[in-house]
Amino acid sequence: MTLEKTTTILLTGGAGYIGSHTFAALIDAGYQPVILDNFSNSHPAVLDRLQQLTGQRVVRERGDVLHAGFVAEVLRHYACEAVIHFAGVKAVGESVQQPLKYYSNNVGGLVSLLQAMETSACRSVVFSSSATVYGDPASVPIHEQFPCAPESPYAQTKLMCEDILASLGAADPAWRVGVLRYFNPVGAHPSGLIGENPRGTPNNLMPYVTQVAVGKRARLQVFGDDYLTPDGTGVRDYLHVMDLAEGHVAAVQALLTRHQSFTVNLGTGKGVSVLEVLSAFERASGRRVPFEFAPRRAGDVAQYYADVSLAEAVLGWRATRTLDDMCRDSWRWQQTNPEGYEAGPDIPPRPGLRSRPNEPAQPAAVA
Ligand code: WQD
Repeated sequence: MTLEKTTTILLTGGAGYIGSHTFAALIDAGYQPVILDNFSNSHPAVLDRLQQLTGQRVVRERGDVLHAGFVAEVLRHYACEAVIHFAGVKAVGESVQQPLKYYSNNVGGLVSLLQAMETSACRSVVFSSSATVYGDPASVPIHEQFPCAPESPYAQTKLMCEDILASLGAADPAWRVGVLRYFNPVGAHPSGLIGENPRGTPNNLMPYVTQVAVGKRARLQVFGDDYLTPDGTGVRDYLHVMDLAEGHVAAVQALLTRHQSFTVNLGTGKGVSVLEVLSAFERASGRRVPFEFAPRRAGDVAQYYADVSLAEAVLGWRATRTLDDMCRDSWRWQQTNPEGYEAGPDIPPRPGLRSRPNEPAQPAAVA
């Protein structure tokens, strides 16, 4: 079955890092994405950038997934055939300090979204899960059948969401659920127009490295030099965000054409150490990145990377971009946008489709 070019897909959290790149990939593939975002951890200026990038008007609504009535209205108004659910909070450390924020936004947000979908005709959902559900794996590469052992409230929320989706699918076969367990997304769109826009001090390796290279931070701390890995530093499966975005397109396509649910890893299948990232980045940018070794970071595991064979079999998708591509595109984004997105205009209200006054006080943020 071939899909109509106008198939409309709702992207909750579509203004965030992965959501915005997926928006661009969906447009490229001929879909009509609609962004629903509360901008609690994203910047409205991304909308202008997306318009520049795609040459199309960006369809978007400001609102919160915790507000099921509003989401249902959006789903019906645009006749959405599927939802990609990115909206959520995602800082592992913060989740330990503020677990209720995580359970409320991530688990509550999903339940609210699914309730909204139940009242509309839309029964296909792609869910942003994370490799963090595996915890510290007994071996690598990690296959989807490995046991899940979440080690933080954040990881626990992702696993709970997966369980909720599985229960729904078991209760009613009309539901089609695609669970995507992301490994470590990095990089940016090659145009340099959109990229990752962390607030405050970055938690993750690549944005920290780019901020050191651009002179915003003095040096990188490499957390741990005594792991049981080839060079002693942590090994991860870094994945170009455009490969990840295209993985979402493949997932939506699979749900809408083959009507089957799935849970797959999205990674490259290749483990890369912190020192390897650093030297690739120095090559791509031509800049030195000063660093020092520091103690291991609490909660980090020595190494993980994906078994990607199921994603390839189910989605016909595999990552094609290299570590050099990831570094080059991260650097282009950082260099051309040293302060991230400029302050953009607020989104004007549109009659009939606006957040209600009783919108939750603690809105969900954006993945
Ligand atoms: C990568 C490597 C660090 C920063 C996290 C979440 C995970 C997922 C992706 C959402 C590790 C080392 C890092 C620094 C360093 N998020 N590092 N200095 O921890 O693998 O995964 O982001 O789903 O859930 O846990 O990614 O980029 O933080 O770290 O040496 O300043 O870089 O120790 O080995 P991580 P990361």
